[in-house]
Amino acid sequence: MQTIKYTFQPHGDERGQLIALEEFNDIPFRIKRVYFMYDTIEGVVRGKHAHKSLEQILVCIHGSCKIRLDNGREKKVVALEKPYEGLYVANNMWREMFDFSPDAVLMVFASEVYDEADYIRDYDEFLKFVGVKE
Ligand code: TYD
Repeated sequence: MQTIKYTFQPHGDERGQLIALEEFNDIPFRIKRVYFMYDTIEGVVRGKHAHKSLEQILVCIHGSCKIRLDNGREKKVVALEKPYEGLYVANNMWREMFDFSPDAVLMVFASEVYDEADYIRDYDEFLKFVGVKE
């Protein structure tokens, strides 16, 4: 299974680092929503859903965490531990976020505003939606 990890260009100088993310340039879609998770309790697994049409880029801007991607046929775990790395998560992709370090801040850039109707929260329903199960 192919995963797309972006390496953003830091604008570093003697003062430190700065990363700027622009829609259609650094992020491959129009950014309609940004949200972030922090103070995640040790051992917690978040996500556990797929989206019918939403696309996202996940950036762990502080600390580290892991993302399990599952297209219904294959699974892959990707570690996010650098603020300049972004993981693209397509629609029709089951995702789980886990192994958060206590200082982790996971920022998400999303192509749509929040819409509960776009979620698939049941794994069996997801497998049917992507045509893996009848
Ligand atoms: P939830 O979907 O459980 O987060 P995740 O699946 O990423 O672990 O969201 C937690 C709560 O936040 C839930 O009550 C819905 C709300 N929420 C919003 O209001 N807007 C948003 O953009 C998101 C992602 C969640």
